[in-house]
Amino acid sequence: MNYLIGIDVGTSGTKSVLFDTEGRVIASETVEYYMQQPRNGWAEEDPADWWDAVCKTLKGLTEKVNPHDIAGLGLSGQMHSLVLLDKENEVIRPSILWCDQRTHEECREIENILGREKLIEITANPTLTGFTASKLVWVKKHEPENFERTAHILLAKDYIRLMLTGEYATEVSDASGMQLLDVGRRCWSREVCEGLGIDMSKLPRVYESPELTGRVTKKAAALTGLPEGLPVAGGAGDNAAAAVGMGVWCEGKAFTTVGTSGVVFAPTDSPVIDPLGRVHTFCAAVPHTWHVMGVTQAAGLSLNWFRRIALPHKSYREIDEKCAGLPIGSERLIYMPYLMGERTPHLDSDARGVFFGLSALHNEYHMARAVMEGVSFSLNDCMEILRGMNIGVSDMALCGGGGKSDLWCQMLSDVYGVNVKRMESDEGAALGAAILGGCAAGVYSSVGEACEAIVRVKNVTVSSPDAHAEYEKYYGIYKSLYPCMRENFARLNSI
Ligand code: XUL
Repeated sequence: MNYLIGIDVGTSGTKSVLFDTEGRVIASETVEYYMQQPRNGWAEEDPADWWDAVCKTLKGLTEKVNPHDIAGLGLSGQMHSLVLLDKENEVIRPSILWCDQRTHEECREIENILGREKLIEITANPTLTGFTASKLVWVKKHEPENFERTAHILLAKDYIRLMLTGEYATEVSDASGMQLLDVGRRCWSREVCEGLGIDMSKLPRVYESPELTGRVTKKAAALTGLPEGLPVAGGAGDNAAAAVGMGVWCEGKAFTTVGTSGVVFAPTDSPVIDPLGRVHTFCAAVPHTWHVMGVTQAAGLSLNWFRRIALPHKSYREIDEKCAGLPIGSERLIYMPYLMGERTPHLDSDARGVFFGLSALHNEYHMARAVMEGVSFSLNDCMEILRGMNIGVSDMALCGGGGKSDLWCQMLSDVYGVNVKRMESDEGAALGAAILGGCAAGVYSSVGEACEAIVRVKNVTVSSPDAHAEYEKYYGIYKSLYPCMRENFARLNSI
């Protein structure tokens, strides 16, 4: 029997899953950790926590089977999160995460240095606080001693790769989110790196996602239970990996994920760019393909936050059941999910969350339902932009923690006005990573072949035209709220 392992180094925890080569889950292990928010809008994690979680979860898996039956491993993880190492591979400072918003000024500086058009031409995207380049420029400016000490610059899953294999490597999908990559050519951009004063020799080697990047070392084998020499694939950023795990590997397919962040993702055969930069254009995990994706910063994060502060003793299932009994529009309550600023469509690091229309009639469940609706409206903003770019989004799949909720699935399908399918495996990024691991190990001949053979539809949620019409009334108001508040978000943040 051959097994594959997919690891997803997420924001709220690391999940490692053991699959058979048909994509069936044999065992799954998760270890959680917490994001630190030292200031409003900042977000950090300790890479040591990720490695500890990886070791614990892998130990849990490798105890259950004969480790020598494991054929390959793939990595996925939160994108953009910056890891700085010194020449002894010691972590220099906590990782500055994808949802950290401290780099507003640095983004303007990058645009001034390189020019907005040039930057979009090379990296396919405008500067964003979420992307890694502005985080590097922030460290250079505010912590020059840390910048000087830096010998290696990595992303979250690539730090885990280093710990597993001893190799400094990344792959095109995650590297795209650093904003140092020439996204069209799929290699580091000398022009961008030199412009920003970033020494290219400190960047990891770039591979395609299904390529072999290294093998598990003896030391890592002892810590994880993996067999020494196990092939480790490039893997992919969590969204590109989830695309593979959802079978969304070629143009014409699309998926939504409701994880900590929310994403609407569609593959393309060439790099298609939104001139306004409201959605990202990155390399996809399938060689010679790209993808466009819109991002809601705080999707599952919004419901997670609300449950923690208002309904700490209720499970998501209980919250779902209560919310399902409430009407569309949560009795005229609208939530804007901008807890961590917003990317699509506003590109505004100052934006913050809002409940609009609160009345004494509303209780926690109205608010929880409004949170789910507001996140769905924000994802619909992504859909509208993709539609405007003539990118196919009607073959829509759903994954992520929020995708497990029947209520949220129906809501999204009604808000979008398209049917939404869920797959037999809801392992998304971990399955995608495992498939890429299988490609590197020679178990599959290509990503597309593996997707077609393994990924199966479980059910389809049908969109209701009546519900769509009702949601449209609220979505219209939702869309008109942000422009009224933009200036005050900035004023509030400048206090
Ligand atoms: C994508 C992004 C998030 C993280 C979350 O650009 O920043 O989806 O990858 O893990």
